[in-house]
Amino acid sequence: MPTTTTPIPLDVPPALREAWERHQAIVKLGDPILQQVARPVPRFDAELRTLVERMAIIMDEAHGLGLAAPQIGVSLRVLIYKVEETLRVLVNPKIISMRGEQLDPPEGCLSIPGLQGRVRRAMEVRVKGFDARGKPVSRRATDLEARVIQHEIDHLDGVLFIDRADPETLEWVFGPGEDDDGNAAPRE
Ligand code: NI
Repeated sequence: MPTTTTPIPLDVPPALREAWERHQAIVKLGDPILQQVARPVPRFDAELRTLVERMAIIMDEAHGLGLAAPQIGVSLRVLIYKVEETLRVLVNPKIISMRGEQLDPPEGCLSIPGLQGRVRRAMEVRVKGFDARGKPVSRRATDLEARVIQHEIDHLDGVLFIDRADPETLEWVFGPGEDDDGNAAPRE
């Protein structure tokens, strides 16, 4: 089991402070909600669909690959992600099985702007959950999609990628800009 002890406060490099101020809707490391276990969604109602729509807008604005509800301050088991242009929603997700292993690419997180690190993840996961209308969803995912799902479900359990990353590989990355779709690690 990973430790959930997060090294706070992180010594954020001055050049990245502006990135931490950007996208105010996204909760950053240091907010205790990121280390809480989120509650299951009790009802598939209009409020849930509004939450999912809001998450999709915020994720797009921040050029993220994935986003979990606690990252916008809502402690519910909801995640979204967009891998290969398809937006997917998982409510109350459960990983049914995991296979294999992957080490790359390094991970980043919208809640920890600029930090990257290498995290060992399963290469393939089978996940079950519901869409925003309560319809059961079952999905087999591999590679990057599997990585994103594992990263986001970790958020629902109060676990951050820095809790799982090989500490030797954690590094600050100064890209040409947070909003650049360059070669930065996936931000989730
Ligand atoms: Ni994240």
